[in-house]
Amino acid sequence: MTDKYCVIGNPIAHSKSPDIHPVYARQTGQDLVYERCLAPLDGFAATVQRLVAEGYRGANVTLPFKIEAAGVCTRLEERARAAGAVNTLSFDRGEIVGDNTDGPGLVADITRNAGREIRGKRVLLLGAGGAARGALLPIIQQEPCEIVIANRTVATADALARDFGRHGVPIRASGFAEVDGGFDIVINATSGSLAGELPPVPAAVFGPGSLALDMMYGSQPTVFMEFAARHGAVVRDGLGMLVEQAAEAFAIWRGERPDTAEVFGMLRP
Ligand code: ATR
Repeated sequence: MTDKYCVIGNPIAHSKSPDIHPVYARQTGQDLVYERCLAPLDGFAATVQRLVAEGYRGANVTLPFKIEAAGVCTRLEERARAAGAVNTLSFDRGEIVGDNTDGPGLVADITRNAGREIRGKRVLLLGAGGAARGALLPIIQQEPCEIVIANRTVATADALARDFGRHGVPIRASGFAEVDGGFDIVINATSGSLAGELPPVPAAVFGPGSLALDMMYGSQPTVFMEFAARHGAVVRDGLGMLVEQAAEAFAIWRGERPDTAEVFGMLRP
């Protein structure tokens, strides 16, 4: 019988996941279907129960349900607990297991696709919301020498630095303008790019060859990517992270990690 998966969100029409997973399934010879699932804003939990009852094997979760998704799980993987959010559900013999592959996808994009080691490097994380929180544990597990979290609201960055400060990697919180020194890797996890707004960090955060990654993607580079490129950084958008988080989810469900190059090429010909 063909195994059923879907991505749950509201809205959901724009999601690229239904284009990605069938390619991974073909590559790995797996028999599955992957659909879009629009859940009512007040009906996420009921939607999950329906999918379980209909025999679905798992689901991805996207906006605005990632935090709520953690609440419907009977078990949470450590990285989902640390992220406080779930983007991958597995329905397994009565259990609803929640995981979060966004951070691992980001790390995979940096280390595999951009070919950058995080170990021993200085990392600047811009933003302290859900996207930044989800990235932190997987970045820490790569053992950078230091992480600075800069945010418009410094108190939120402070809270995040405290929450993740016990893992052995020094983490400091800062306002944007006060960030000092250069960084090997600068990650924009603010939602500012959606509105064309640049986190006002000093240009000196970028050195020649710094990697600047915006979690957003679109047909044009974001203002953050343009700013970083003007100051010598190598830039990436969030398409690689998208493709890699999907591969991580696929591996959780199917036990095999697909090669992401074909999908990357398909989404950005
Ligand atoms: P997400 O899930 O995308 O991370 P979020 O949890 O609402 O969304 O967090 C949004 C992040 O983007 C926050 O760090 C927010 O800063 P504040 O904590 O000060 O609100 C940041 N952000 C949003 N708009 C921004 C802008 N125009 N400039 C800089 N930072 C912005």
